[in-house]
Amino acid sequence: MPTSRTFSDEDQASEPRPARPDGAGLQRSGRAELALLVNGRTRRVRLDLRTSLLDALRETLGLTGAKKGCDQGQCGACTVLIEGRRVLSCLTLAAAAQGRAITTIEGLADHNGELHPMQQAFIEHDAFQCGYCTPGQILSAIACVREGHARNEAEIREYMSGNLCRCAAYPNIVAAIEQARSAMKEGSR
Ligand code: FES
Ligand code: FES
Repeated sequence: MPTSRTFSDEDQASEPRPARPDGAGLQRSGRAELALLVNGRTRRVRLDLRTSLLDALRETLGLTGAKKGCDQGQCGACTVLIEGRRVLSCLTLAAAAQGRAITTIEGLADHNGELHPMQQAFIEHDAFQCGYCTPGQILSAIACVREGHARNEAEIREYMSGNLCRCAAYPNIVAAIEQARSAMKEGSR
């Protein structure tokens, strides 16, 4: 959701109001209790309604895998999945994500700790240097494969173009996605 939406600066110090999953009844400012479904777990939080999903994940829930790069929708470091689709969490209000399945990098490994094939492929192909962009790259890459937009190198580069890497690990990232694409076809993840 674009940040151009304007809000009142007034932070109403009122009692928390329960917010409905469909967003009805949400005010443009003030605080409310939200139920966020993150990595299969419902997390109840009380937030200012102007809080981005990125800040809710990092500052309130302690899930710091999603990174704050530009905070303006231009780098992809904050990418998470909502209902399997990639979104920029810096441009998404936490309130708008309520009741929808949110997946962050912390939720990719299975309950035995086995890494997702995309995580494993990034390791095997050395697809990171500093690692700052990596959680966003991995989540975006998973969606890219699921969308059917990873059929060849050119397509991967095009559909991953919203995820920037200052370390320029792009060739290794493409190679990792090509490997994981096959593994994801064979498995269900
Ligand atoms: Fe969200 Fe850069 S931090 S796109
Ligand atoms: Fe450093 Fe991508 S690995 S920004």
